[in-house]
Amino acid sequence: MSSQNRLAPARSAQRISADLEALSQFREEHSPGWTRRAFSQPYIESRHWVAERMRDAGLHVERDAANNLIGTLPGQGPGPALATGSHTDTVEGGGRFDGIIGVLAGIEVVRALRDAGIRLRHELRVIDFFNEEPNQYGVSCVGSRALVGGLTAEQLALDDGAGETLADGIRKVGGDPERVLDLAWHRGDLAAFVELHIEQGPRLELSDLPLAVVTAIAGIDRYRLVFEGQPDHAGATPMDVRRDALCAAAEVVLEIERLAEGTDGVATTGRLQIEPNAANVVPGAAVATVELRDADRRRLDDRGRRLMAAARAAGESRGVQVTSEPLTTVDPVPADDTVQQVLAAAADRLGLPHEAMFSGAGHDAAHMAAIAPIGMLFVPSAGGRSHCPDEWTDLDQVAVGARVLAQALLDLDASGGDR
Ligand code: HGY
Ligand code: MN
Ligand code: MN
Repeated sequence: MSSQNRLAPARSAQRISADLEALSQFREEHSPGWTRRAFSQPYIESRHWVAERMRDAGLHVERDAANNLIGTLPGQGPGPALATGSHTDTVEGGGRFDGIIGVLAGIEVVRALRDAGIRLRHELRVIDFFNEEPNQYGVSCVGSRALVGGLTAEQLALDDGAGETLADGIRKVGGDPERVLDLAWHRGDLAAFVELHIEQGPRLELSDLPLAVVTAIAGIDRYRLVFEGQPDHAGATPMDVRRDALCAAAEVVLEIERLAEGTDGVATTGRLQIEPNAANVVPGAAVATVELRDADRRRLDDRGRRLMAAARAAGESRGVQVTSEPLTTVDPVPADDTVQQVLAAAADRLGLPHEAMFSGAGHDAAHMAAIAPIGMLFVPSAGGRSHCPDEWTDLDQVAVGARVLAQALLDLDASGGDR
């Protein structure tokens, strides 16, 4: 019997469903949805649970200096490994599937191989990347950046606005920031990296398809804009003498929206903090965290320049000092052609229709592309919703994704995987 038919999909569906339910219990009780942010206690506790699931599946588990959890299944021989995985941290008010299904499906593939008595030629690594979501220091994909040598000393020094740096945060959760800069894997270590993820948008549901093979991942530029005006009495300060930091920021927020209007790109001000944030005080300070996304680096750079010009203009017209700090920049990343073909062929082999899709969402795979051929599989998001408590993917859709992931890893293993 071919290896593909020895995997037991029904059993896998049950185990993934049980794991999704159990992992969703680790959540920040005072936050909405299934919040489990990367530096929270529930997240710290949940990763002991993830490590246990990895060990139960037969993986050797290590935690690196950047707090990535890496489960390793030895292969028959030496040579580059195959890798899969994603993240288990969420945004504030997040759901139960974003990133999570990629880690749990990776663990399930290992269990299914064990049950079927299949030993891969390649070593297989299952990764729960630390802190994929943008954190309070302004950095996202901390674990995958570190794993490919892309986390910088400047990013480690970014602070949360209250004096604590990303390095302090990594240390607090058991990582070792001093060793983060030298833990990187290198090109050649991996034959391929494949990530299963929810689409986080409406297209699969609209096309009534169970799967998408990702063609490329959006580039993302994030900036922190600081507006420094003057706090004043809201009642006694005439309008023509105010230096209102929030009004300056508001002008820029609307200009940011206009930057992407009518394009395939997107632009968002997702975080706005004001000081002193009191009803009867003219806002003296505002901090906006802004992100621009597009498939094209030149368009991202052009919008970044227009964003800076808008911020300067808004500040000058209101006597508000505006400073901007680039936080992170990720180039658009194409998925590897051969890995895309392997994913599509695996779906075909299982009789599953699929479509090619660009990912507007960022992923750890975008960083892994620095050292390995990457590919991604999407499964549908109900109503196209994600990063919210309503995020939902039917469990049989998750199981289908895991099944295709298993098949693709088997095919990459059989084909030598080496690209
Ligand atoms: O922001 C993103 O695109 C991802 O969900 N972290
Ligand atoms: Mn996310
Ligand atoms: Mn994600």
